[in-house]
Amino acid sequence: MPEIITAPIIRSMRTKGEKVVCITAYDAVFGELADAAGADIVLVGDSVGNTVLGYSSTIPVNLEDMVHHTRAVRRGVKRALLIADLPFGSYQSSTEQAVQAAVALVKAGAQAVKLEGSYTQAIAEIIRAGIPVMGHVGMTPQSINLYGGFRVQGKGDHAQGVLNAAKQVQNAGAFAIVLELIPAALSAQITDLLHIPTIGIGAGVNCSGQVQVIYDVLGLSQTPLKHAKSYVAGRESLVSAIKQYTSDVREGVFPGDENSF
Ligand code: KIV
Repeated sequence: MPEIITAPIIRSMRTKGEKVVCITAYDAVFGELADAAGADIVLVGDSVGNTVLGYSSTIPVNLEDMVHHTRAVRRGVKRALLIADLPFGSYQSSTEQAVQAAVALVKAGAQAVKLEGSYTQAIAEIIRAGIPVMGHVGMTPQSINLYGGFRVQGKGDHAQGVLNAAKQVQNAGAFAIVLELIPAALSAQITDLLHIPTIGIGAGVNCSGQVQVIYDVLGLSQTPLKHAKSYVAGRESLVSAIKQYTSDVREGVFPGDENSF
């Protein structure tokens, strides 16, 4: 296992046939946990909007939020590749805007950025500025208003559109690409066609790797999602621990002698 993971290392995992493991984190504590568990990529996702900030989508998240959370995660992650999301409204207007936003995230500690859709000029210009880019196609959450909700994309006649977008993102120079909520058969086809790693979420097992939101993996999300799996009943365990603390305080059991000076 290499000491420090870089974008070229992730890119080369595709050639070696090694699965890429990516997980999100939004603060130093969870970033450190993901790193300690050996994830290849820690993604400061704009899903911080839904998971931490209490929004119902990623749309309200702004660049300042992403800079703040990227700085925090940077303090916890030592080995994994740290990627930060360009939030909605920070790259769609012009390539200059995209480069400036990417630079802000790298100054905050990211080693690469991710953006949604086939903004090929923005991808190429960010790379020209020295910043590796991960693409993201399929169900791109910043566009939920177009889809009418978090719906599987690329079904039937729409498959070709997703496939074309993935090719464009690769040709613009992305070192990897996220495929979100698309049929497993389509992601297998895209993975065969591309030469960069495909990182799936709700896109089946045939991708070159997988990405998950850390709160889903740890069972901390209130709504179970078909494309996610909880590896621990996190919410139940945490609520039960806090209940125990609450009752210990009320009954005068905590603090005990061992906690007192
Ligand atoms: O924001 C995010 O967490 C993401 C992943 C789910 C791919 O973009």
